[in-house]
Amino acid sequence: MPKYQKPKGTRDLDENTTFKFEVIRSLFVAISRFLGYGHVEIPIFEKTNLFERSTGESSEIVTKQMYKFQDKKNREFALRPEGTPGLIRAAIENNWLNSHNGDKFSYFGPFFRYERPQKGRYRQFFQLGAESIGSNNVESDAESIYLLSFLLKELKIKHVIKLNSLGEKEERLRYIESLQQWLTNNKIKIAKEDCINIEKNPLRILDSKKSATVKGIKQAPKIHEFWSRETSDRFKKLTGLLQAANVNYQVDEFLVRGLDYYTSTVFEASGHDGAQDAYGGGGRYNDLISELGGKNTPAIGFACGVDRIASALKFDQIKPFCIFIPLGEKCREKAFGIISKMWSNSVSVKPYWNESNLGKALKRANSIGSKYVIVFGEKEMQNNTLLVKNMKNGNQKEIPINMSSIMSALGLDE
Ligand code: HAM
Repeated sequence: MPKYQKPKGTRDLDENTTFKFEVIRSLFVAISRFLGYGHVEIPIFEKTNLFERSTGESSEIVTKQMYKFQDKKNREFALRPEGTPGLIRAAIENNWLNSHNGDKFSYFGPFFRYERPQKGRYRQFFQLGAESIGSNNVESDAESIYLLSFLLKELKIKHVIKLNSLGEKEERLRYIESLQQWLTNNKIKIAKEDCINIEKNPLRILDSKKSATVKGIKQAPKIHEFWSRETSDRFKKLTGLLQAANVNYQVDEFLVRGLDYYTSTVFEASGHDGAQDAYGGGGRYNDLISELGGKNTPAIGFACGVDRIASALKFDQIKPFCIFIPLGEKCREKAFGIISKMWSNSVSVKPYWNESNLGKALKRANSIGSKYVIVFGEKEMQNNTLLVKNMKNGNQKEIPINMSSIMSALGLDE
């Protein structure tokens, strides 16, 4: 057992994973810019009461999962468990909304939740998010869902968008009352652990993963039975827009999501079979901005788990283009001059500064799939040459030490 280990639920990301993160981040920033979202960065900790007020005092995130701390002046802070509250706080505080009655923002970074670690669920994880502020028109719901689906499509990740509406406040309240009644009368049909939520947060029971509940809850009343005419029409319009835009969606009458601020449309992207945890999710939150002290402004957005998206990507390991093997101290010294010249000519090359055994070095270069290897030993130094080996076909040639010969031997001279 090593003396020091990483905190439980955190990850050390290897170079292949950070490469995938980079691809996801740059694609997301580019695509969201393309749709008119500006990219912002906000602090990773905020005052605790910001999350209590927005994510919700009865939500699992606030009651159980926040990393809270006091600073030296006893101020209460929390590591951000999600991005929406901080983004809205920043938009209000910096007047990002006033000039044009709303705007659209994207963000990317680390988030923290004290959860039971398992595959795809960490205590430090990364999210990318997009918030569209200022419109309550159903087209902006369609746009937000389109962006999520577009990103996953571009990354070649098969997915389905699960879709539901929580309706307007009165519809929701009537539904909660009816659900509570049903749950109280049918406790026997749901898992014991879920019963504690009947009083506090009955909607949470709908997306319980406990098999007894999943089975039993199917008979419970469904929210669409409580939708008003307007809510039904809006939902129908939304599904029409998504269909026309070729978004693969599926109505899920039990989708409620675990954060308190949602109103109306909610959605989640999950794997094709729907079995695995969600890649991302979001919804409309029309009351949050005024609750946090801003003007009454409607908004909708989503966030995706970058760790989960990255693990679904089927890229090859990143392979170095060229490995440079200087053998011994004198060769190393001269090699640095050659290598730095290659770098300044935009040739990607990875030197092995610590290998004096050629056989071992070649084996190592081969195992990581390098395309070329350049060997620079005593013999090459005497001849003022480099030995360039093509690792794919095994061909090798000795070349003079100058950039044009190096470029040509590496196939970079076209
Ligand atoms: P959320 O559903 O809590 O929503 O999180 C969004 C995504 O973050 C999840 O679907 C999942 O992929 C990822 N995620 C959450 N917790 C973890 C974890 N412990 N480990 C790994 N990945 C995780 C929100 O956070 C809302 N702020 C989304 C939103 C934006 N709604 C409106 N605007």
